[in-house]
Amino acid sequence: MNESSHALIEKSFTFQDCEDSQSLTVSIPEVLDPQYGMYVWPCAVVLSQYVWMAREELQNKTVLELGAGVSLPGVVAAKCGAHVILSDSAELPLCLRNCRRSCDVNNLPDMPVIGLTWGRVSPELLSLPAVDIVLGSDVFYEPEDFEDVLVTISFLVRRNPHAQFWTTYQERRRQRFGHRIFLQMLLDLDHTCNSSKLEKTGNSQALSTATPDLNS
Ligand SMILES: C[S@@+](CC[C@H](N)C(=O)[O-])C[C@H]1O[C@@H](n2cnc3c(N)ncnc32)[C@H](O)[C@@H]1O
Repeated sequence: MNESSHALIEKSFTFQDCEDSQSLTVSIPEVLDPQYGMYVWPCAVVLSQYVWMAREELQNKTVLELGAGVSLPGVVAAKCGAHVILSDSAELPLCLRNCRRSCDVNNLPDMPVIGLTWGRVSPELLSLPAVDIVLGSDVFYEPEDFEDVLVTISFLVRRNPHAQFWTTYQERRRQRFGHRIFLQMLLDLDHTCNSSKLEKTGNSQALSTATPDLNS
């Protein structure tokens, strides 16, 4: 795909907290192209809202976003005080460029953007610093990729035993039971799961998982 043939539009997203009247607005450039990773998916809005509500927990934490695309959750986490690393497939340079563009538009020029292809134990994966939270919005959309996504998540949470994985997924008609398969796979990997349905989010769900604390 030649990106120059596609127009860019910038969308603003505002997150508010009714309890203390704080708010955050970020801008995300989207590419007018139907391919994955070119625009903000509904799951990204849900995960960003979850990130915003958990912002106190994120202060100075190291956060890695997988399959970030235009990177709304990662940008929100960075604005909330986390050290964020954005990633998308090493084979999709245009998606990596979208990550970079979202950093630049939000005045986050130093935010690292790396190519991480799910299921691959690459030098980029091996050289990551310690990670506290892994974000993945709508990364469970192609059942044939589920195993690769889980290989990467499993690698990360085993390497960082206190890390949590925060994800949102959409229940789609064509993969009605897909979410059950990946939930079962997470449980098979001995992760504990907390699932919370945010209000007014349609059929997107937020889920956080962590390896159990064997000392407690
Ligand atoms: C459905 S889009 C979601 C994008 C973004 N997280 C959001 O919610 O707006 C899936 C993302 O996964 C990325 N992706 C697809 N296959 C991948 C792979 N094998 N490894 C890493 N990322 C991949 C795509 O480039 C795309 O950005």
